[in-house]
Amino acid sequence: MNIIVYPNLLLRKVSEEISSIDKETIEFIAGDFFDTMLEKDGIGLAAPQVGILKRFFAINIPISEDESIKKIVINPKILSSSKTKELYEEGCLSVPLIYALVERPISIKVSYMNEEMKEITEELDGLSARVFQHEFDHLNGILFINKLSNVELLKIKKALKELKNKYKNDK
Ligand code: CO
Repeated sequence: MNIIVYPNLLLRKVSEEISSIDKETIEFIAGDFFDTMLEKDGIGLAAPQVGILKRFFAINIPISEDESIKKIVINPKILSSSKTKELYEEGCLSVPLIYALVERPISIKVSYMNEEMKEITEELDGLSARVFQHEFDHLNGILFINKLSNVELLKIKKALKELKNKYKNDK
């Protein structure tokens, strides 16, 4: 599947909840969608990034050379966020080759439906919390470049402008 790139306006839309989750939908998310993330070496991919305005995303966080934390997340909610925040460098398949420091809560409590249609509630921290929040933002039309301090924004301004010019006619 093709990844939609900034400044495509599809990345700015608020996605809709999946009201009836059926076997086909799960198979698609666990199959083609998940594979697209792996193929592009992403540690996360949200539905709007492939032009689907539905509330789901996938996560694949490497923990060792041949192990990773894999998640399929459908209709997610962030129930609470820690007051403590930290800066960490983020990138995005939809904003290629641009990286910047983003401030986010270090831990969160979330709920979502997984690929077995089970309602999961869990606490996340570290990179898991980071990626969950980044992907969750995609479902609300928010990119990491919208969350930067002025200093960080200034650092990537030129690269962002080049990206905008390169992809401005993409539909
Ligand atoms: Co992203």
